[in-house]
Amino acid sequence: MKIGHIDLGERPIFLAPMEDVTDPAFRLMCKKFGANMVYTEFVSADALIRSVSKTEQKLNISDEERPVAIQIYGKDTETMVEAARIVEEARPDILDINFGCPVKRVAGKGAGAGMLQNIPKMLEITHAVVDAVKIPVTVKTRLGWDANNKIIVDLAEQLQDCGIAALTIHGRTRAQMYTGEADWTLIGEVKKNPRMHIPIIGNGDVTTPQRAKECFELYGVDAIMIGRASFGRPWIFKEVRHYLETGEELPPLSAEWKLSVLRQEVVDSVNLLDERRGILHVRRHLAASPLFKGIPNFRDTRIAMLRAETKEELFQIFDTISPLLS
Ligand SMILES: Cc1cc2nc3c(=O)[nH]c(=O)nc-3n(C[C@H](O)[C@H](O)[C@H](O)COP(=O)(O)O)c2cc1C
Repeated sequence: MKIGHIDLGERPIFLAPMEDVTDPAFRLMCKKFGANMVYTEFVSADALIRSVSKTEQKLNISDEERPVAIQIYGKDTETMVEAARIVEEARPDILDINFGCPVKRVAGKGAGAGMLQNIPKMLEITHAVVDAVKIPVTVKTRLGWDANNKIIVDLAEQLQDCGIAALTIHGRTRAQMYTGEADWTLIGEVKKNPRMHIPIIGNGDVTTPQRAKECFELYGVDAIMIGRASFGRPWIFKEVRHYLETGEELPPLSAEWKLSVLRQEVVDSVNLLDERRGILHVRRHLAASPLFKGIPNFRDTRIAMLRAETKEELFQIFDTISPLLS
């Protein structure tokens, strides 16, 4: 499968863009385990053009994680164009536009999924951003604003006409936020539409290798994007890749091995940022890891993990956990 000239291989699996989650260390880890493409968290176009340094840091990407997409969001055409040019200078492989974020502080202001209520503006921005940069531009959005406005089949054609190189569809409406189940049937309809020729990336509730395979087979999508199921579990890409290639489950990965992966994530996170910020980022992943599910009386340990401020503190906690893992 290709987006523009970028070859992403057979039945590729992507790491979804996630705010405060898809930081450099985590992206690299997912890449190492087989994610065919990774995305930065969304970056505010407004903040970028105002040179907010915390926002500019979100553009930091490394060659090891390529192909990598940087995602931007905003509601104003000129701002988005200017931000797109700034992003292009950071040399990502792809520039992705977020028209899917449902949270009030974004969608309520007309950006992200808010744009699903102003399609002319969405198309104007997409057109203008495609024209402004040389790298492929892609869009990530949802089925529509709410259950009565599932417009994605028509919208996909309109976005394609703006010149985008691929489209990611999260199978929920804005009104659903993250509730209910992702509905892949409309994603499949977009894919089946004979007028569509750009790659379609399906997203929503893929949590197992079996479901990933089923989504490729039932809905014909060109790629699958995994979000929440990767929290504290970057090895999901290894499990999915193996299953897609062999039709068999990967032999179980040992708990010790998984803990060593999380240790490495801590090290990478601290090395790529600094100790304070690295720990801040990584401890949320750790607390959410399915590796620790089922350990009796784990609550206090989880709280300690969330409060740890140094690498050493975290590693000491890991040392206490290690004998508890079976
Ligand atoms: C904590 C969190 C942060 C997210 N941040 C972004 C974001 O920055 N950009 C984006 O396009 N989607 C974002 N999403 C949505 C995910 O990319 C994805 O579309 C959604 O979680 C559904 O996929 P999943 O069921 O595999 O998690 C976020 C989701 C979560 C849970």
